[in-house]
Parts: sequence; C-alpha cells; structure tokens
Amino acid sequence: MPTVSGPDGADPGLAAAGQARIGWAERTMPVLGLIRESFAASRPLDGLAVAACLHVTAETAVLVNVLRAGGARVHLAASNPLSTQDVAAALASWPGVTVSARSGAARETYYRHIHQALDSAPALVFDDGGDLVNTLHEERPELLAGVAGGVESTTTGVARLRRMAAAGTLAFPVVAANGAATRRMLDNRYGTGQSALDGILRATNTLLAGKTVVVAGYGPAGTGIAERARGFGAQVVVTETDPVRALDAVMAGFRVLPMAGAAPLGEVFITATGSRDVITPVHLEVMRDGAILANAGHFDVEIDVRGLEKLAVTVNPQIRPSADEYVLADGRRLILLAEGRVVNLVAGEGHPAAVMDVSFTVGALSAVRLTSARPPLPPGVHEVPAETDAQAAGLMLACMGTRIDELTPGQQEYLDSWRYGS
Ligand code: ADE
Repeated sequence: MPTVSGPDGADPGLAAAGQARIGWAERTMPVLGLIRESFAASRPLDGLAVAACLHVTAETAVLVNVLRAGGARVHLAASNPLSTQDVAAALASWPGVTVSARSGAARETYYRHIHQALDSAPALVFDDGGDLVNTLHEERPELLAGVAGGVESTTTGVARLRRMAAAGTLAFPVVAANGAATRRMLDNRYGTGQSALDGILRATNTLLAGKTVVVAGYGPAGTGIAERARGFGAQVVVTETDPVRALDAVMAGFRVLPMAGAAPLGEVFITATGSRDVITPVHLEVMRDGAILANAGHFDVEIDVRGLEKLAVTVNPQIRPSADEYVLADGRRLILLAEGRVVNLVAGEGHPAAVMDVSFTVGALSAVRLTSARPPLPPGVHEVPAETDAQAAGLMLACMGTRIDELTPGQQEYLDSWRYGS
C-alpha cells in the first residue's frame, strides 16, 4: 500500500479512504471507546509527548485517538516496513498527531522514521518489537532521562527488553503488555490464529482442506494457527524445540515432527517461533513443488530468505500480491509470502479490530499506570497486573452483552481460607 505521510511527505489523496477504514475499525472497538470517554474526562496524559512505533493500521489509529483524548501528542512510526496501511495519511491530518510511515520503506527510511518519532523527546513510548526502545538506548541516550516509561506489544519485543534489563541497560520501566492473559489469549491465539491464515488465503487463495500444514512453534500464536488450520480441514504437523509445548501439541492431537521430517510433507509452512533459521536450505531442498512458505513471527528471520534466494535459479516476483515464486534448479517452485515478513499484517490487515480493542485497552491502561504510579515504577520489565486483565476482560464481556456469575460471600470466604479440607 503506497502510503507516504508525515515529515517524509504526505499523500492527502489517501486520507479519505483511510478515515473510512478507521471508522469501520472503531465500530468493533467499543472498549477503547469507553476508555476514550474516560480519558477525555480525566486527561491522564495531558501535555505528554508519546512516541509510538506500531503497525500503522486502522486499529492503531483508534488507539492514537484515545491517547489524544487523554491529552497526549502522538508521534507515530511504523513497526514493520511493509505493514503500513492507507490510514497513515488520515492520521497525519489529525491535530496533535505526526506520522512517519511508508509501506515498502527501506531499512534506512524505516529507522529515519523512528528517529523522527523520537525527535518529539517523548515522555512515554509505545513499541511493537523493540526497535524504538533499542534505538532510543543505542542512538538517542540524551532522551532517556525524559522517558517516564514504555509499553511493549509483542513477545519478541518483551524478550529483547528482558535481555536489556538483565544486562542492566534498560533505563526506564516498560510494561510487557503482551504478557497479559487477555492478550495471550485474544491477540496471540485468536488474533494471530485467524489473521495469519487470512493473510495466507488472501495471498494464495489456496484450499486448506486436505492440505498438510506445518506450523513451527506451539506457543499461543502457533497454537491458534494450528487450531484454525485444523478447523479448515488441514492435516496439521507441529514442530517445536520446547518439550512441554511439543507434548501439549501431541495431547491436542497434532502430529509432532522435527522440521527435517516435516519439510518433505508440508504443502503450507507457517513459522511462529520468535526465533531464527527455522526453515533453512536443508529443509527447502526437500520440499514439495508448490510449497507455500509464510512467517507469522514479528521479524523476518524465521525463514532463511537469503538461503532461498541462493538456491533459486529464477525468481518470479509478485506472481500474486504478496507472493514471490522461487524456482529451484530441479524445477520445483517454492512460494514465499510477504518476503518472509509477518504475513498477517503484510498480506492481510493484521488482527481484527475486536482483538486489538482489548490489546490496546491493556496498553492504554498501562500508559496511565506508568505516568501516575507513586512512587514511579523502577526501570525494568513490569507485568500487567491481574486487575488490569480482569478490567479489560470485564469491559469486553459487558460490551458483548455476556453476563457472568459473581462469587457469593460464602464462596469468597471458602477460597480465601486454608481451613477447609475433606
Ligand atoms: N498487530 C497485529 N495486528 C494488528 C493490528 N490490526 N493493528 C496494529 N497492530 C497489530
């Protein structure tokens, strides 16, 4: 999507279509609507500069509007060079918002955009994958003292932050929004589960029923993908390095194999491990003609794309949008989706708005916690409190019209006591 906006030049021609997409997303984000109303009344972020490095989607725009209602000025850069949607131009036209994002940005442009967001000297940062927090520490250390805290959206970003904290370099508190139970369930499992397959289907229009689908990684995201692929009628093979997760997959009825064993069987491969070199030339060499390769992890390191390029004698780019065909010496064709980048956001639209409603609610509530905690939270990685999870889940249930039971005083007393036994 050819969006250019913000300090790199805006394309106002895309603003109207972008605004319509944002309106559509907003309809299924009622929880954030409630948070926006409460932010507009209490202005918890009044006068603060927020630098955000997030996927520039309609759902992110709805979050930006909430932060704005809370009194923040928001400076947004993209968290993936290929995921920016047409909404960037609409966002850039809103007062109090600057956007630096372009779909297809080269690495240098991608980082220039992050620097442009940081030029705001933020008091608060929102990150998705850790590139903004990393750049802040490595290249803009003079800004660190002004940062009250950050919110990180992904498993990959949180893993990077934990390594920074362990090395003693993380200079401010960051809430690991992704650790929240609501997020693990909704965002990783149901969000990635649906949107990864959505991206693959948009890019290929392949029939999943009867196909062998190999899912690498059985964390919450891989679990969601495997479940959804099975729901489509695929025969699902799971690969794992973690014995507990592998056992979980076996017990859920999936066939578990090492990637070397799965590679000759698979017709669709989906990586969701958060690690690198999951599919390498050793595996590519034995794959079936027509095998489809997709990555649902945050970074484009899970499929060895350079290795694939070296093996190929011909590359037919964009045989369909987001699908490149690699022809090997023996004539086999392997189809790489989204250049090995996160398929749900590059070939699709990312998680549905209803999922991002809860994800971004946790993020917005975490931002308030970071700016209002007395004493302030110390530097390091902080979990989302169980009450925030319960609040987000309760609001979503209420918006869905789903009622649940309340503990009776007797039940509460029983659960609080250690005296009751057989
Ligand atoms: N991450 C996954 N899906 C997303 C979406 N729709 N918007 C922003 N970030 C996302």
